[in-house]
Amino acid sequence: MEDTTGKVITCQAAVAWEAKKPLVIETVEVEPPKAGEVRIKILYTGVCRSDAFFLNGSDPRKPFPFILGHEGGGIVESVGEGVTTVKPGDHVIPLYVPQCNECKFCKSPKSNLCDEMGIKYVKGVMPDGTSRFKCKGKPVYHLMGCSTFSQYTVVTETSVTKVNPSAPLDKVCLLGCGISTGYGAALNTAKVEPGSTCAIWGLGGVGLAVAMGCKEAGASRIIGVDINPDKFELGKKFGLTEGVNPKDHDKPIQDVLVGMTDGGLDFTFECIGNVACMRAALESCHKGWGVATVIGVAPAQQEISTRPFQLVTGRVWQGSVFGGWKSKDSIPKLVDSYMNKKILVDEFVSNNINLNQINEAFDLMHSGKSIRTVVKLW
Ligand code: APR
Ligand code: ZN
Repeated sequence: MEDTTGKVITCQAAVAWEAKKPLVIETVEVEPPKAGEVRIKILYTGVCRSDAFFLNGSDPRKPFPFILGHEGGGIVESVGEGVTTVKPGDHVIPLYVPQCNECKFCKSPKSNLCDEMGIKYVKGVMPDGTSRFKCKGKPVYHLMGCSTFSQYTVVTETSVTKVNPSAPLDKVCLLGCGISTGYGAALNTAKVEPGSTCAIWGLGGVGLAVAMGCKEAGASRIIGVDINPDKFELGKKFGLTEGVNPKDHDKPIQDVLVGMTDGGLDFTFECIGNVACMRAALESCHKGWGVATVIGVAPAQQEISTRPFQLVTGRVWQGSVFGGWKSKDSIPKLVDSYMNKKILVDEFVSNNINLNQINEAFDLMHSGKSIRTVVKLW
């Protein structure tokens, strides 16, 4: 293999030039990593709803053009000065929630946020304020610190973690977002208890991973709430015990669920990003102790509401990002859990496509027919 260390690499990437337009496969230049950075050859990437969120221009602060993708798996090509936690040849997963280990959040056991997130999301540049991607002579911005829709990418050392080299990257790439998010929300954020009753709004990749976490925690009932009834049968594999379609009922879904569960659920999860469902999930909780966890990302500007009496009488409304996992420390462990057959990952892959078909992955996602599409970069 040619030694590319220190050189600009020319490769293929899917570039988002404008909001709401299909991605365009382009030849891009990827600069070598600077100090504290890592250049990765990406082999596989998942396509997630948050990619669509940014492509739709839902965050108006995000400058175009940029390279999407944050559920990737690859091999380190070269590292910049001072990098110690990964080396060329390591199998790695990029992290959209970084872990710098130095900020207030990283030092607290109470949170998995990290101060580095802001700049990575909004400005789309590396810490020195510049981008490592160029296309047609113009800079192309990074996204969520990952940009895995490219055959090569550059990330900071805080946004990448080394994983077991025998793990199949075409599967474990999905642990970079959706699966870990749902599974961790049940186990780390809600701390679902044995024998408890749970309900999950939205049975996409995130909601199904919540079901998997609830099952592992020993929940006695795991009720899926979805307007697409095809999801109920599918959900059984992940631990769902029953399904409820709000369209089958005239009364509000919270009344239906409270009736089905002798006063309400112990734990509920919103995995859609719909503020009306967030309210229903809170109001379906049992008085005195029910806990509602918000996972779905709602459109910017929207607000949630309920009567404060719901909280005064002991229900808890909380949220979670990336399942509460401290990313750099936890993803290697989740990969091992998959290798030890403790968690499902293969079952989340419904389609496999090549980079030049990437726009089809968005169509599949919007059609509701696919849980996750995995894109092969090479
Ligand atoms: N009521 C019930 N179910 C709904 C509703 C609704 N009003 N609207 C959509 N759904 C269902 C869909 O039928 C689908 O099964 O929600 C599910 C959403 O699944 P996906 O679109 O596959 O989304 P997913 O990848 O799981 O992400 C869900 O989590 O991390 C966030 O940004 C992500 O906000 C998104 C959410
Ligand atoms: Zn940090």
